Amino acid sequence: MMLAIDQVLGPDEVSAIRAAIPGLTFGDGAASAGKFAREVKANDQAAPSPALDAVLGQVTQALTANPIFGFAARPRLMTRLILSRYRTGQTYGLHVDDALMNGVRTDLSFTLFLSDPDTYEGGALVIEDTFEQRAVKLPAGDLILYPSTTLHRVEPVTSGERLAVVGWVQSWVRSADQREILFDLERSLRQVHEAEGKSALFDTLAKTRTNLLRLWAAD
Ligand code: NI
Repeated sequence: MMLAIDQVLGPDEVSAIRAAIPGLTFGDGAASAGKFAREVKANDQAAPSPALDAVLGQVTQALTANPIFGFAARPRLMTRLILSRYRTGQTYGLHVDDALMNGVRTDLSFTLFLSDPDTYEGGALVIEDTFEQRAVKLPAGDLILYPSTTLHRVEPVTSGERLAVVGWVQSWVRSADQREILFDLERSLRQVHEAEGKSALFDTLAKTRTNLLRLWAAD
């Protein structure tokens, strides 16, 4: 399941992060790539600093507070986030993300867009599945969540600058199929609650959702 989540960061939060960018130092993004991905990765990433910690802390807080992210990803662990920057001519060629990053199994990848799409050309995240490619370029503050198992790339930026935060989730529910079932059940449950409150149907659905999660949640 690929999922776009609107406004994980509101306009004010995006503005605050953008205002912090000039105070950050950027280095070669290839440093955080695996051996083969390094050959096709040509972008920048923010170097560790207290100012970066503040930015990434704010993003982590927003992710933790976002119910849709929680229900779709069922996060158990998350990698350290990366603030990436693509300037004109920069790109990240086709690659698959490493399966393990600092002890975290990467089940889901995400990109949180920080630049308004009309301020840069190119720079779409292109995700391949077995029969098609999907190009994703979202408004600032929106996030795309997708399976880490996919081949994907970032198209060359041909003008302007593309800023994004990327990260990876180890889910309580390793199977993408099972995560999708739980996500659909969660949505249905909420619709039933809205329509008829805590009815008998709601209670049974809630029991099913909870017990499936109990069955499927695993280290
Ligand atoms: Ni990647």
